Amino acid sequence: NNSEPVLMMLFGATGDLAKRKLYPAFFRLFRQQVLNNHFAVIGTARRPWSDDHFREVIADAIADQNPTEPEQSAFLQHFYYQSHDVGDASHYQTLAKLADKLDQQYQLAGNRMYYLAMAPRFFGQIVTQLKAAKIIDTAGFNRVVLEKPFGTDYESANKLSQELTQVFPEKDIFRIDHYLGKEMIQNILTLRATNSLLESQWSNQYIDNVQITFAEALGVEQRGGYYDQTGALKDMVQNHILQVLSLLAMELPTKMSEAAIRTGKVAALKAVRIYNAAEVAENFVRGQYTAGSLNNAQFAGYREEPAVDPQSRTETFVAGKFQIDNERWQGVPFYVRTGKRLTEKGTRINIVFKNLTANAAIATQNILTIYIQPTEGFSLSLNGKALDNQSTTTPIRLSYRHDSQMMANTPEAYERLLHDIITGDATNFTHWDEVAQSWRIVDTIRQAWDQDDQPLPTYAAGTMGPKAAFDLVAKNGNQWIWQPDTWFVERG
Ligand code: BG6
Repeated sequence: NNSEPVLMMLFGATGDLAKRKLYPAFFRLFRQQVLNNHFAVIGTARRPWSDDHFREVIADAIADQNPTEPEQSAFLQHFYYQSHDVGDASHYQTLAKLADKLDQQYQLAGNRMYYLAMAPRFFGQIVTQLKAAKIIDTAGFNRVVLEKPFGTDYESANKLSQELTQVFPEKDIFRIDHYLGKEMIQNILTLRATNSLLESQWSNQYIDNVQITFAEALGVEQRGGYYDQTGALKDMVQNHILQVLSLLAMELPTKMSEAAIRTGKVAALKAVRIYNAAEVAENFVRGQYTAGSLNNAQFAGYREEPAVDPQSRTETFVAGKFQIDNERWQGVPFYVRTGKRLTEKGTRINIVFKNLTANAAIATQNILTIYIQPTEGFSLSLNGKALDNQSTTTPIRLSYRHDSQMMANTPEAYERLLHDIITGDATNFTHWDEVAQSWRIVDTIRQAWDQDDQPLPTYAAGTMGPKAAFDLVAKNGNQWIWQPDTWFVERG
């Protein structure tokens, strides 16, 4: 179970991500003895914290896991803090010395991992300085970990990628897409690859349409500044949604290696049709939420949110129809939608099968639903005989709910991803080739929108998006499939 020894350098150690996700994940890995005694963490940020204060902050971050006193102190003694200005070369010398000392003390074999939990504008500078200070010149592995956004369009992403690859080879760059750490997203390939019932039907011959919904009930909260510059297309579609789409659409490799999976995903993204401006208008819908209510609570409109421009034209909702131009998927719409302040938090995939039966008139379409969150599981809807009536049918749903049936806690996405980085498995990270393809797709949509000065469609907070999003699927004779999560909960 033990992983290799490692020194982690965390840039942005005082930030929100570190406190909410990384320290709790480190502690879980420590508890499971995946991180044994051979690890150390150097936290850096501008603030002048002491090691003691740093350890107190971490103790707070893991408090809800109820560590015992000995467990907690054994864990905390691996954490060190170094105040750091990312632009100051002398600070990297200090870091180098501390790193070498801890390497000796904990016998870390020169294995290092640099986690940049910081604004992307610092990425290039940090890696360049790490190299100049020879921090990465060790005998062990040296891996860099980045959080999105990876650029704001193809060009800036490419520039960033070039800066990074001057220091780290692509194989040592781990770009996090935290959705790839989620259990049911990791399950997509297993479901496809190990069920001939599904994989034999996995094409335009049997599938009518595919629907990917990433709904959020929250608004932009305290992130108005970032979000207003970004919008739903870049925040969710460019990364998470296109990742899921590629896992659903790719050709399955015979051997599930990291490289083969990546090649399959990239090929699927390359086959996504690039629309011209008129086609974007035809196939994509954006929207912005206005004031509304949900479960008796009132919510302000997007333009009233803190740090949001009162005239903002940033979309908080996107729905679209992707088309994949290859033999397998020709003619099958891949509908996607995501938005803030929708009716509930729910990430789902629906695979809607064609109704090819002789009794089509009394049968409904079979649907495979993959529940990604908050409920995890899947369901398959079939038709059965209606009680007392041989000539009509009743829909039957076979369902599997992950957390109740496995009786196990689903590990947090970050815990898995950190574990993968330490063991050097890049399967669940975004390779540059995928980033490049997804920007190619998203840039043309963004450009078409930027040239369109029609009023932005709106939707009231607490609804499932603007009317245009429903029209988009209806004009193809489809409808959005949406079962509330309570469907599962009621049945246990
Ligand atoms: C992030 C987006 O990548 O994903 C956020 O920047 C979004 O805007 C979040 O809220 C959703 O992640 P999760 O894991 O809560 O579904």
